[in-house]
Amino acid sequence: MSQPWWRSAVFYQVYVRSFADSNDDGVGDLPGITSRLGYLKELGVDALWLTPFYPSPQKDHGYDVADYFGVEPAYGTLADFDGLVARAHELRLKVLVDVVPNHTSDQHEWFKAALSSPDSPFRDRYHFADSKPDGSPPNNWTSSFGGPAWSREPGGDGWYLHLFAPEQPDLNWWNPEVPTEFERILKFWLDRGADGFRIDVASALFKRQDLADRPVIHDPVYGAPRLDSAFAIVDQPQLHDVYRGWRRLANGYEPDRVLVGEIFEPRRHAKYILPDQLHMAFALIHQPWDAALWRRSIEANRGALQGPGTEPTWTLANHDVVRPVTRLAGGAVGRARARAALLLLLGLPGQVFLYQGEELGLEEVNLPDSARQDPIFFRSEGRQAGRDGCRVPMPWHRGRPHAGFSTADPWLPVPVGWDSLAVDAQAGNGESMLSHFRRALAARKRLGAGLSDRLEWSRSAEGVLAYTRGRLAVACNFRSRPAKLEANGVLGLASDPLVSLRSGVLSLPPNSAAWLMRRR
Ligand code: GLC
Repeated sequence: MSQPWWRSAVFYQVYVRSFADSNDDGVGDLPGITSRLGYLKELGVDALWLTPFYPSPQKDHGYDVADYFGVEPAYGTLADFDGLVARAHELRLKVLVDVVPNHTSDQHEWFKAALSSPDSPFRDRYHFADSKPDGSPPNNWTSSFGGPAWSREPGGDGWYLHLFAPEQPDLNWWNPEVPTEFERILKFWLDRGADGFRIDVASALFKRQDLADRPVIHDPVYGAPRLDSAFAIVDQPQLHDVYRGWRRLANGYEPDRVLVGEIFEPRRHAKYILPDQLHMAFALIHQPWDAALWRRSIEANRGALQGPGTEPTWTLANHDVVRPVTRLAGGAVGRARARAALLLLLGLPGQVFLYQGEELGLEEVNLPDSARQDPIFFRSEGRQAGRDGCRVPMPWHRGRPHAGFSTADPWLPVPVGWDSLAVDAQAGNGESMLSHFRRALAARKRLGAGLSDRLEWSRSAEGVLAYTRGRLAVACNFRSRPAKLEANGVLGLASDPLVSLRSGVLSLPPNSAAWLMRRR
């Protein structure tokens, strides 16, 4: 039986605001993405995930949605979306839309109606509640962006709940009108040609109904009082029925439409990645560069999934985390590790998500405070830098202002010298990160469906991970000194340049990886 298109696919996350700017206003847009689809095709990915492009006040850069049926004017129009999908499909690229069901913008018609009168029926679509007798917020929940999860209702006595910014009021999923509306939203985008959805904060939609305080416990190690993080506010069992409904809806389209949940913890994956619920969730490898830790994380993610043919969706980066090159030590060492990590993950059974700019080896940018825009920076009063550093616009052209992203000043400043990493600076250089990504993705495609999903770890020296999958053998040296492995086969096309194989001995320089094809 042939596999569905998404099994083993490589997805590429486009951060719409920062990918390509077609009208030189300093902000990326949908026509810009359409104009660069050829680049993504050549890179060798199978599908794109577009971050939210709906009309939005941009308090959390699109994750505060004012209208789920439209396009933010700065990003284009619905016709531009249609054009993007049509061109992507001509190139045989799939397109996933980001759906944000946990909260709306405070500028959404529903929230505005809810605030308009104490009797508004729209109030029940959000969580409004009264103060505690002492005048404090209804419970002690905190926002992921810092501070309490409750804000005072403008012009009223009560409070409303927001697990993120105050401009992102949480929806009340216990009200059946909310799930009904989201089925309508999904259908709208599926009918326009979307190939599926990335689901924002996918495990949080229903909050525990009693809105009870998180208990204060004493930390078992330090003895200090703290809020009990094991106390379940989200992950309510009712959510599974919602995803069953979404899966039924997706199953009504041909070929497969996919549902990818923003859920990271392996023990949660098991509850959601099921034949009648979500297709995928993210296996984000964020451990420090240590062979044993990476192996444990790979095994935990594989071990969590049940059912034949279900494999993790590997990822190193997204628009919320520090860029991997920087995380892995930065500079030349960080780049070498990121190259090796790519081979290690691309060899594994499962899907892969890449984040724009990973293929250029971009680093986290240390922006001046005056340029920062992330609500996390403001909510923490500057104590946390926030996520802008991984969202700096893509460098396209060497020698051009703002590395060719735009002639106007981009919404986040592009660092001086960033143009040396531009696409056109790397494309013709066989040793660049971009060429490495292209080769690795091409090699993976060539092996394709022929590879078995059976992974076996091979014995290897400490600090080296090695595994086989049928004819493919993958080895990755995490150490800062060279490693040698006995090997039988021929070097795969994707190996790091300084790797060598002589007389059955594979020599791996520090922080490098290789793919070997075993002789049949
Ligand atoms: C998700 C998004 C993040 C956003 C948050 C609130 O975690 O990835 O960017 O801030 O949800 O919508």
